[in-house]
Amino acid sequence: MRTPAGVGLMMAGVWLAAPAGAVSDPHSYANTDDFRTTHAVLELTADFQREVLAGTVELQLQRLDPQARELVLDTRDLTIGAVELLGEEETTTLEHRLGERDDILGAPLHVNLPAAEAQGEALRVRIRYETSPQASGLQWLKPEQTAGKRHPFMFSQSQAVHARSWIPLQDTPSVRLTYEARIRTPKELVAVMSAHNDPQAPRDGDYHFEMPQPVPSYLFALGVGDLQFKPAGPRTGVYAEAQMLASASEEFADVEEMLRTCERLFGPYRWGRYDLLILPPSFMWGGMENPRLSFITPTAIAGDRSLVALIAHELAHSWSGNLVTNANWNSAWLNEGFTVYLERRIVEVLYGDQRRAMEDVLGVQSLVRTIDSLTEQGEPQLTQLAMDLKGRDPDDGFSDVIYEKGRLFVGFLESRLGREKLDAFLREYFNHFAFQSIDTQTFVAYLDEHLLQKTDAVSMDEVRQWIHQPGIPASAVLPVSDAFTSVDEQRTAWLEGTLAADKLDTQRWTTQQWLHFLDNMPALNVQQLGQLEAAFKFSAAGNSEIVHSWLRNAIRADFRPADAQLESYLTSIGRRKLVMPLYQELVKTPEGAQRARAIYAKARSLYQVPLVAQLDALMK
Ligand code: BES
Ligand code: ZN
Repeated sequence: MRTPAGVGLMMAGVWLAAPAGAVSDPHSYANTDDFRTTHAVLELTADFQREVLAGTVELQLQRLDPQARELVLDTRDLTIGAVELLGEEETTTLEHRLGERDDILGAPLHVNLPAAEAQGEALRVRIRYETSPQASGLQWLKPEQTAGKRHPFMFSQSQAVHARSWIPLQDTPSVRLTYEARIRTPKELVAVMSAHNDPQAPRDGDYHFEMPQPVPSYLFALGVGDLQFKPAGPRTGVYAEAQMLASASEEFADVEEMLRTCERLFGPYRWGRYDLLILPPSFMWGGMENPRLSFITPTAIAGDRSLVALIAHELAHSWSGNLVTNANWNSAWLNEGFTVYLERRIVEVLYGDQRRAMEDVLGVQSLVRTIDSLTEQGEPQLTQLAMDLKGRDPDDGFSDVIYEKGRLFVGFLESRLGREKLDAFLREYFNHFAFQSIDTQTFVAYLDEHLLQKTDAVSMDEVRQWIHQPGIPASAVLPVSDAFTSVDEQRTAWLEGTLAADKLDTQRWTTQQWLHFLDNMPALNVQQLGQLEAAFKFSAAGNSEIVHSWLRNAIRADFRPADAQLESYLTSIGRRKLVMPLYQELVKTPEGAQRARAIYAKARSLYQVPLVAQLDALMK
């Protein structure tokens, strides 16, 4: 965008919101002050032989500036064919050119348009194009990389700036559009999108979708595979490969109650249905809040529902994120921080105070480690809620900081206002900005007008410190968990040699307690790892997060009996949060780096394109 950063008005000491449309986005080439997309029509064929999507997108745009003659769109690694202007009577071919490719941003597509005929004119521009097999926002899986092993699978991941790798468009969350799509697939496969899905649609390789609510481009999503559907409740259900359907439905059976709970707390759910799509283990995220259809990692299926906070999280984005959306990635804390807060409120209602407290504490522990390491790396700016990510890959801004510090910020507001007032504020906030995209400044101005000016409980100075200063403010209310006190006692007793591992009182420990036990170990030696394995059989554990913590300790201690488990873990899971720290731990020694390379060579084809880029860099 051309608008310089920080556009807004300074009045009476507060920054007023920049006018709608003037929020700047350093991660998009689109000239959104000149043109604004309102609707897209996709017609794409999923070609599994060539691993590409091919077809057209019709963008319906408004020319905001009557002088504007050049439309600039975002693309990455797309092959662009004809670009046409669709008129009432005739179709005209438009001149276009692709600009230089940037590693993070991709390449701008410049399209020349005829002079405007009317003020605020509506235009329809159709682009024929094809994606690259290497598209950063698409993953093409061979049959053997799926649960069923018989059919291929493909899925998209558009956040943060990857929609442009499968659709040429204004790829900025400051623009919202509705869409419709026609997707052709091999006959035996099913396509689903972040739109209205019909579970009864005939399996004929020709699928239609409509998304009537305006969404930012990062919420455009498509999945194609040998999918089955199972309802969970009246408005909820699960799409998965047949092999996963029963276990996933069982694991996530609480989704309908989560939906009702969030509605009761924060206002109506405005998206119709809420379904889950269980992806193959290659998916590099835990979950992605694609509207009406969250995409979910199968590593959250633990067998005991202990990792379902993930579902509460993606669901909560239906309010914080999808309804009220960060207008650029510098403001991503507005999405993630509020969502973690909502997630924990849902967890509290469904699973109780204890579980919520444990998840809060684990979150803060992880936050403290992240802040320490970012500070050490000379990046204190990345420990602020509002960041300046210009020139950086926006995916790198998604650390624990915007999640857990963001959550602490909302918790701080709660502690000062009381729950009732905070909840009322949040309901009003979601309502006021429903289906809009806002940045940090707009939020602060709204907070000021609707809260700070009405109470002495919170000051603007405090708010500014939370949002614009590094680290954790002293006004934070840090969580404590009684359930962890006994875990700490057991760990200490074992470390001091007063209690043998098999004598520890772990009978009724939950997943969160095991994580607390393992995450907070000092450097251990091989004998100690052997004792833990003998007592607790971590080599046979089925919980992906517990195994992750165990393996991390094993690598640190160079405990070689865990080698086979490590290799099978890293070659069967592609979730970044679970695999990246293990590779990072391995490469700390020359010998470990060698093992890392050997394992990575086998695992690489399973991992998503952006993760491969990061691991290639790590393994260089
Ligand atoms: N929106 C994120 C996932 C994401 C972030 C994708 C940045 C691309 C770029 C999603 O809502 C999320 O936060 N997922 C978390 C899980 C959650 C329980 C914290 C994840 O994937 O780990
Ligand atoms: Zn999230």
